[in-house]
Amino acid sequence: MSARTALISGANRGIGAAIADRLAADGWNLSLGMRQPAASPARFAAHHIAHFDSNAPGCEKIWVEAALSRFGRIDAVINNAGIMIPRTVIEVSDSEMQSMLDVNVLAPLRLVRAAWEPLCVSGKGRVVTVISLSGKRVKFASSGSYSVSKFAALALAHAIRHAGWDKGIRSTAICPGLVATDMAFGLTDMSPGDMTPPEDVARIVSLVLDLPNTASIAEIPINCKIEESY
Ligand SMILES: NC(=O)c1ccc[n+]([C@@H]2O[C@H](COP(=O)([O-])OP(=O)(O)OC[C@H]3O[C@@H](n4cnc5c(N)ncnc54)[C@H](OP(=O)(O)O)[C@@H]3O)[C@@H](O)[C@H]2O)c1
Repeated sequence: MSARTALISGANRGIGAAIADRLAADGWNLSLGMRQPAASPARFAAHHIAHFDSNAPGCEKIWVEAALSRFGRIDAVINNAGIMIPRTVIEVSDSEMQSMLDVNVLAPLRLVRAAWEPLCVSGKGRVVTVISLSGKRVKFASSGSYSVSKFAALALAHAIRHAGWDKGIRSTAICPGLVATDMAFGLTDMSPGDMTPPEDVARIVSLVLDLPNTASIAEIPINCKIEESY
């Protein structure tokens, strides 16, 4: 029997690349979605590399078809690609807000819809969405508009959980605080060594993917520093 197959969006760098490394070590077949496949890291050469741009509706269907024709099955979708525009809800422009909703909410929804049938066929389909603690609480005014998109993404993860439960699909929202990637480096002067390493987020994703249908986790908040509620 062929190995389980996972699709990972935004797999070229940051958390997505760490998840790809981890799942490769776990023995998964990988189909890695990225905006610039030609610039894919050399270590991913053995994996299936696909074009995926969250702002190009339709590319997710082509990606899913290509992954199916390469591996014959899809067992997991990892919605990882995301953007953060640090604006308060008062400052943010309509187009900036729309961009965050497009990339953080609508594109993951389209990707899961495109992969729905093979995920159902799997009987143990998994959807993991990298959200954020900003999907759980509004921490700063400047992250407020990002939180609006990530609260919506969290609702999407729960909605997928309900829609897919009877088909064996389990959906989990991963909600990290600061993770040591380009995104966080641009937002804070906190030392990267004090942030959650992306490899540790990947370990948690790996665990979630291996849990049986009878031990599903809806949300996992991840902290690198203590907060009032997390
Ligand atoms: N870092 C943190 O502190 C943190 C904390 C909580 C949650 N998160 C979430 O974790 C996820 C991964 O973020 P990261 O920390 O790894 O950030 P990152 O290093 O900035 O990487 C973001 C990834 O998303 C991709 N992406 C952005 N816009 C895209 C688009 N229009 N179409 C397709 N791909 C697109 C990027 O591709 P390109 O290389 O082409 O730009 C890149 O692969 C995001 O959903 C983010 O919101 C991050």
